[in-house]
Amino acid sequence: MINFDFTGTEPFLDKTLWDGYVRRARAAHNALLTKTGAGKEWLGWRDMLSSPNDALIEDLTTLGEEIAENADVLLCIGIGGSFLGAEAVIQALSPYFPTPAPAATTGGPRSVSVLFAGHHLSSSYLTELLRHLEGKSVYVNVISKSGTTLEPAVTFRIVREWMEATYTDHAKRIIATTDHSKGALRTLASQKGYRNYVIPEDVGGRFSVLTPVGLLPIAAAGFDIRSLFYGAVSMMKELESADDNPAIEYALRRYLLHEQGYSTEILSVFEPKLKGIGAWWQQLFGESEGKEAKGLFPAVCTFTTDLHSLGQYIQAGKRNLMETFLVSDKERNTVLVPHDETNLDGLNYLAQTPLHSIGEAAYQGTAKAHQQGGVPTVHINLPSISEESLGRLIYFYEHAVSVGGYLLGVNPFDQPGVEAYKQEMFALLGRP
Ligand code: PA5
Repeated sequence: MINFDFTGTEPFLDKTLWDGYVRRARAAHNALLTKTGAGKEWLGWRDMLSSPNDALIEDLTTLGEEIAENADVLLCIGIGGSFLGAEAVIQALSPYFPTPAPAATTGGPRSVSVLFAGHHLSSSYLTELLRHLEGKSVYVNVISKSGTTLEPAVTFRIVREWMEATYTDHAKRIIATTDHSKGALRTLASQKGYRNYVIPEDVGGRFSVLTPVGLLPIAAAGFDIRSLFYGAVSMMKELESADDNPAIEYALRRYLLHEQGYSTEILSVFEPKLKGIGAWWQQLFGESEGKEAKGLFPAVCTFTTDLHSLGQYIQAGKRNLMETFLVSDKERNTVLVPHDETNLDGLNYLAQTPLHSIGEAAYQGTAKAHQQGGVPTVHINLPSISEESLGRLIYFYEHAVSVGGYLLGVNPFDQPGVEAYKQEMFALLGRP
């Protein structure tokens, strides 16, 4: 079970507003469940959890195994919702320093490394990536719902040329994940005979991590996508009732703080491998709520690193911040601080203390100090960093942001603002 603690927001909330907004939050939750709110045609991310497609999960697992056995690298090309979820889950579940075991030396299955491209326009990155791929066995998963997003489309054109020049069996090595009928990528996949998967029409990009968009890369990286998916299913069931519902609670408290002038939410992690979850959360909340001059700006901090850069501001800068700590206190190890005869650094009082206990003290101390400095705090504690708990967390956030968007009075499922930079860029590039 994920543990939620909202008590750190109490001293900051105007309780005169509370009762009225509790009713509104419950109404927002009901609008989500009954498909009566704004953007109700975009709720496929809930429907697919209500009726899981086990055959699809099985199929994606098998293809993931094929890729892991035959490839050194799976290159995933995509941006935004077609990139962040897979990266987040893979990063959270992977060891910090994986040891690759190429089949050529071990005789066993290869250990595939999942790399990403098409998520920015750095030409140095792509040049160096293609150099890095030389001599390796490469599979490509090109992921784009629209099939027309510039960054992945232009990247795929370059990578496709490289694949066609490098492998005679290039068509077998390219997998397309896209809309079932619309878009250039769908046409290309049919013409070239690529294996392909569908992004359901009623699932928006930032809600698509539990579709083939996220599941195929995560399966290829060697993780149990069934546990991930069913973790989300369990959480959805637990959040059906409006009573004792942490997603409603989180959405409501954020909303009240927003109404009281808090304009930024920081998601703080102490485990660097949760940084990608933060980036995924940023898109989910930023694109869903940041409309009509409303919404909390979602920012991510990795502690203790950022305590030495942003800590000062969080402690004593402009008082418009709330903070959610996303932690897992079960991440333990056996590293102990050694005793040192000379004790020049004065650290012998920590001799034989496990490093994770020092990390725990840093977390508790930071939370206390920030709270005392005027920052409302929320704590989300994962039982472990596992497929199951991440699936639960993903659904929790998706539910909460929907309720939060409705409380704000915006459509949480569209993103009209994303078009503005594209129009300006295309004008400069002279698109016909
Ligand atoms: O959430 C969204 O809809 C966006 O972030 C998209 O995922 C992103 O722009 C990529 O779009 P596409 O998958 O169509 O290439």
